[in-house]
Amino acid sequence: MLEIYKESIRGLCQAGAEQIAQTRMRVFLVSALALCATIFTQARVVDDYVSREGPIAKAGLLANIGSTGAKSLGARPGVVVASPNRVDPDYVYMWIRDSSLVFKLLVDQYTLGDDTSPAIRSLIDAFVTSQGRIQKVSNPSGTQATGGLGEPKFNIDETAFTDGWGRPQRDGPALRSTTLMIYSKWLLANQNGSQVTNVLWPIIKQDLDYTAQYWNQTGFDLWEEVSSSSFFTSAAQHRALREGAAFARQLGQTSVAATYEEQANNVLCFLQSYWNPTGKYITSNTGGGRSGIDANSALASIHNFDPEAGCDVATYQPCSDKALSSLKVYVDSFRQIYSINKGIPANQAVATGRYPEDVYYGGNPWYLGVAAVAEQLYDSIITWNRQGNIPITDISLPFFRQFSPSVNPGTYASSSSTFQTLNTAVKAFADGFIAILEKYTPTDGSLAEQFGRDNGLPLSAKDLTWSYASALTAFNARAGKTSASWGAKGLVVPAVCHNNPGPTVDITFNEQATTQFGENIFLAGSIDVLKGWSPDNAVALSSANYPIWSATVKIPASTNFEYKYIRKFNGVVTWESGSNRFFASPQNGTYILNDSWR
Ligand SMILES: *[C@@H]1O[C@H](CO)[C@@H](O)[C@H](O)[C@H]1NC(C)=O
Ligand SMILES: *[C@@H]1O[C@H](CO)[C@@H](O)[C@H](O)[C@H]1NC(C)=O
Ligand SMILES: *[C@@H]1O[C@H](CO)[C@@H](O)[C@H](O)[C@H]1NC(C)=O
Ligand SMILES: *[C@@H]1O[C@H](CO)[C@@H](O)[C@H](O)[C@H]1NC(C)=O
Repeated sequence: MLEIYKESIRGLCQAGAEQIAQTRMRVFLVSALALCATIFTQARVVDDYVSREGPIAKAGLLANIGSTGAKSLGARPGVVVASPNRVDPDYVYMWIRDSSLVFKLLVDQYTLGDDTSPAIRSLIDAFVTSQGRIQKVSNPSGTQATGGLGEPKFNIDETAFTDGWGRPQRDGPALRSTTLMIYSKWLLANQNGSQVTNVLWPIIKQDLDYTAQYWNQTGFDLWEEVSSSSFFTSAAQHRALREGAAFARQLGQTSVAATYEEQANNVLCFLQSYWNPTGKYITSNTGGGRSGIDANSALASIHNFDPEAGCDVATYQPCSDKALSSLKVYVDSFRQIYSINKGIPANQAVATGRYPEDVYYGGNPWYLGVAAVAEQLYDSIITWNRQGNIPITDISLPFFRQFSPSVNPGTYASSSSTFQTLNTAVKAFADGFIAILEKYTPTDGSLAEQFGRDNGLPLSAKDLTWSYASALTAFNARAGKTSASWGAKGLVVPAVCHNNPGPTVDITFNEQATTQFGENIFLAGSIDVLKGWSPDNAVALSSANYPIWSATVKIPASTNFEYKYIRKFNGVVTWESGSNRFFASPQNGTYILNDSWR
């Protein structure tokens, strides 16, 4: 450790030598000394926190996993309880996203040799078995064959959650298959191919098939609020399909491998469209009417970190110019809006939340948002050290000028003083975010979902499993640990983007309705082709067989959807009465629906 500090101080002093030539020596020396002292003290505080909080976070995470976890009462084996908090809010559910990210950490720890205890292996196997069962549970998003894999959350006894919710969420199958593939590759490397072929591959294939078929359809984002396309979701889908293509090929499944690869290329192309060149950040959702500045992009970047991919921008690697620029915009968006951030200099760490417009529980910092910023920065440092240089472009310049106001675009080799200065400063910046976590972690080390924007006190769900996992993955990155490469190196973005409408079926909607002259019947519904319930854009029906009004629409195959008919007369829109009509489109063929006006 001491060596690292010495290195850091040396870097600073080299930086100083450059600046002395240009600036007034006394001012510089005073500020350099203060900075040295701050960094030195901060690194100690952070070291202490990491060694104290690490075991608490691990224990806190394990306590929420069924059926042995101390806070997992009622959960089946391998089920991750999002939080044991039952009231305000009730989080005693299993989310596919949270569980997959939590188990990604455990699988990494097991396969990289950090925790090879038989208990962890049993938990991982229980997770696999549990997810295999859950894939088959019919739920409001459908059955396994009709889109049900997009269901975001289940009861902890593995039954379907049937109340209203933001569904589907299409990142779940992608994240789950990624976790299962990391484990499978380890099993293959450890002479256990039969476990992969018989148990894991059938589950993984379901998830990859779902992802290949549905990636180009909208769904709810990771915060379960906005239904549109979402960067985190697309990025997770790209990784799953890319890794899935190579994995399928490894298993001799060449035909599905080709399908996954084709769709991976399509998603990679689509992924580029999230970049906002004016604001210089990644737009998190295509809908929702917000700025699009969101922890979504940092979370995507760390999930997709590939230590062999350098600072590649195609997959928005953590040290890519776009990901670093986006990170700065995201962090800065919280400087003024949270009182606990007031007075903190503009180039130092602050508490960050999900997105600046957030109003959930009043809109507060999230532990996992702060941890994600630190992790993206540590991942960047890992890559810079590995490739022996720091690249700076016009896009990432504002990020780097926070630490070195006169630095210019260029590639700075590890032998240069600029490399040392920036490396040291970014490490200190990253540690600053861990220091924020430290400051707002209560003395018992428990991590809730949020902490108050005005008083820093823990808020919302207690013991959030994902908060614990996010602290642990950030600590691992700080220690220089990386997950295995997944194939992000050297990818070329296709010049032309292709849609994937997936297979469709012709559905004829017949509606018997008597109308007066000048009155017309239209169709609107929950899916894109039915114009997302928009009466203005609703599908017009033909009255050629009056009083049967009719239209044939290409509907995505194997998809659950809702719809209703509307009347338009003299600009006045009248909806049918009663609840929404519901239909699950078949896998193939054609279908005729015979309805009459209600
Ligand atoms: C393969 O992995 C499964 C699941 O962990 C385990 O039960 C089995 O004993 C392993 N088989 C071999 C040959 O290692
Ligand atoms: C589908 O893909 C096309 C081509 O990349 C893209 O323009 C469109 O926005 C995508 N739609 C969704 C919902 O992903
Ligand atoms: C059509 O769908 C049915 C299930 O609805 C399935 O059994 C059959 O194999 C499918 N046919 C083709 C050609 O895909
Ligand atoms: C609707 O009516 C047509 C005949 O006009 C029939 O072929 C079809 O099966 C009917 N659809 C349903 C769902 O009953």
